[in-house]
Amino acid sequence: MSRTIIVSNRLPNKVLRMDESLTFQPSEGGLATGLGSIYRKNNNVWIGWPGLFVHDAAEETYVTEQLRADSMAPVFLTEPEIRDYYEGFSNATLWPTFHYFHQFATYVDAHWDAYVAVNEKFCQAVLAQAGPEDTIWVHDYQLLLLPEMLRQARPGASIGFFLHIPFPSYEIFRVLPWRLELLHGILGADLIGFHTFGYMRHFLSAVSQLLGLPTQSGEIETASHTVRVDVFPMGIDYERYAQAAASDEAAQHEQVYRTALRETRVILSIDRLDYTKGIAQRLRAFECLLKRYPEWREQVSLIMVVVPSRDQVAQYAALKEEIDELVGRINAQYRTITWNPIQYFYHAFPLEELAALYRLAEVALVTPLRDGMNLVAKEYVACKADRGGVLILSERAGAARELSDALIINPTSTTQLAEALHTALVMPDTEQQTRMAAMQALVRRYDVFDWTDNFLSQLADMKAQQRTLA
Ligand code: G6P
Repeated sequence: MSRTIIVSNRLPNKVLRMDESLTFQPSEGGLATGLGSIYRKNNNVWIGWPGLFVHDAAEETYVTEQLRADSMAPVFLTEPEIRDYYEGFSNATLWPTFHYFHQFATYVDAHWDAYVAVNEKFCQAVLAQAGPEDTIWVHDYQLLLLPEMLRQARPGASIGFFLHIPFPSYEIFRVLPWRLELLHGILGADLIGFHTFGYMRHFLSAVSQLLGLPTQSGEIETASHTVRVDVFPMGIDYERYAQAAASDEAAQHEQVYRTALRETRVILSIDRLDYTKGIAQRLRAFECLLKRYPEWREQVSLIMVVVPSRDQVAQYAALKEEIDELVGRINAQYRTITWNPIQYFYHAFPLEELAALYRLAEVALVTPLRDGMNLVAKEYVACKADRGGVLILSERAGAARELSDALIINPTSTTQLAEALHTALVMPDTEQQTRMAAMQALVRRYDVFDWTDNFLSQLADMKAQQRTLA
């Protein structure tokens, strides 16, 4: 029976070294949490980096065996590879460029060389696992060269590629010195998926302007094959979040939080540490709310969860300092003996505690400056059951294309954000419930299983079409 081989830089579980022993924990980020529900089916396997530098061969064997039992196959990366391929090219060149922060991007030949070498390493790992009938599904910007490498090795293979972050406008993409190699790399796939129509349009424009290839009806003719390009907005495992929120454990956590926060209204903000997420702008907007509407002082609490991420990359370390400073300043200015405006956490929360926070929050503030999709917005909706709750959502998150019943804002405007917060806090219950019910219907229907089925069945169609024409 044919299997699906999922390939991404990071595995859905990461291995941590703690006091000389190894522990396995869920990874952060939309890709891992989103796809985490499907890879264990049908003998599928997920290939990726386990997040650990192994000490010796015995440790490598131990980790490989532990992960194999859970349908994962590790690609071990060395410290120089992580520095140059992951922190360097992936997160200091591609990530800022694709999120329109190209002023942060560095262009270092040695990082590019490492990116090519590590994509090659992933290629070998996939070839070691994949049989001729298997479908290979490559994910995200860290592996843009992998589809074409696989195509060279296995011309008849069924290869899908999905980009979880935005694809930028041609004018931004063309700045990259390695733009042609990157496009050729992606075009090794049979099917290429994006979260939104806009990202797909930018990709097609780059292909036609930089490679001169015809791009009609969502299909591109390369020298070797036809590539289909389409839009697949990613969903979440709705039931998993809804059930976690309905659990006794979540209810108990919520009770504890509620008692601690007394009667204050709760605004929630949850992100990985990232300058694309607009965290500092959000803090300034909350400060603006307290300044403009003194009546909310001592009446609202902002719960801000920042999940540590990529803190070896300079911009991330700088952002962490900025957030620490802003939280400190706002709390120092407005707090009273009995009220702390911002409850700030710099760590991840287990699912039931996260679900309790979503249950508790009357307002979720999801205001990235740029975001491929943003699954936090969808998780909040899934956890609200038949309650109200207001989602404030940036127009520049992919999710805004679907969740039109959120309060959609421009995250650069501090005053617009502060006003949206006020509007959310005074919104009548009936309006909250109507908006939330509409969003729930959508998030429940277009869940991650539907997303996976759609992508994989379109890839199978594409392959069948190619075989008929051959
Ligand atoms: C985003 C990316 C993922 C990535 C995740 C976490 O969601 O699209 O590819 O895995 O962030 O980032 P990290 O660098 O820790 O893997």
